[in-house]
Amino acid sequence: MKHFLSIKDFSRDELLEMIELAKKIKAQTKRKEFVPYLENQTLGMIFEKSSTRTRVSFETGIYQLGGIGLFLSSNDIQLGRGEPLKDTARVMSRMVDMIMIRTFEQSRLDEFAKYSKVPVINGLSNEYHPVQIMTDYFTLLELGKTNPVVAYVGDGNNITHSWLMLSSKLGLEMRVATPKGYECDNDIVKIAKDYALESKAKLSFYNDPNMAVKDADVIITDTWVSMGQESEKETRVKAFAGYMVDDAMMNKAKSDAVFMHCLPVYRGYEVTEEIFEKFEDVVFLEAENRLHMQKGIMVWLDEHR
Ligand code: CP
Ligand code: NVA
Repeated sequence: MKHFLSIKDFSRDELLEMIELAKKIKAQTKRKEFVPYLENQTLGMIFEKSSTRTRVSFETGIYQLGGIGLFLSSNDIQLGRGEPLKDTARVMSRMVDMIMIRTFEQSRLDEFAKYSKVPVINGLSNEYHPVQIMTDYFTLLELGKTNPVVAYVGDGNNITHSWLMLSSKLGLEMRVATPKGYECDNDIVKIAKDYALESKAKLSFYNDPNMAVKDADVIITDTWVSMGQESEKETRVKAFAGYMVDDAMMNKAKSDAVFMHCLPVYRGYEVTEEIFEKFEDVVFLEAENRLHMQKGIMVWLDEHR
């Protein structure tokens, strides 16, 4: 049995298999062919942080696969009153078939997975957001960008870390630009660099967005203030001056480059209203694809238990 906690736990071939499944299931869904891959299965979904996309896509996704989703906000279950994760995992995994968790430290997911009898999926942690980044790559493939040069401009956060894992596993070129003091986690960069040696991925790190975006196929950014960092907003907004993705920055990328954002977006901070709206078809396709990509991941996990 495998858990989906980080992209680093999978081989290139396994990641591509999940993407192929997502492609097939998306086509079936578009043809209104509902195939009950996960008939009568229950997906437990624990949320310790807010969500729109992750909740709606997992809940709809499991339903479309013939199962049912249980939305469990940590405020409403005993976990929020201090019942240990290891007990919650042992109880839930005797009743449900798969569990998705959105939480704080990645170590909470590791702890939960250790005690779970069923596959556990990371629906975002402080360190990683693997289902989002699988979706981003799936979307780029749909847009015909099969070997994209990826530029990430902004905070060295969960989105950046998962993108580093994907790039280093698949052998992509990825440039990361972060302000000083907001770089990616050193240990995570080291893991990515080790994989890059094998896959021939080219990873570069800058403190200047202009260096990262030159001739890129896609410019990606994310909020400067992730969930849990609200009290740092003022300091962060100052530190990220010059990191707003605008027309001038997009013009340094390839002429057919696209802009991507996992959402929610904060217009006038990490991206201008103009650039965001110019690429709204890409960004909302990226959002829709959460539904399809996660179905691929759930079915793959079910096939490998
Ligand atoms: N991108 C993303 O995970 O969105 P939510 O926080 O709305 O789930
Ligand atoms: N980096 C953001 C992503 C939100 C989907 C956060 O962790 O809040």
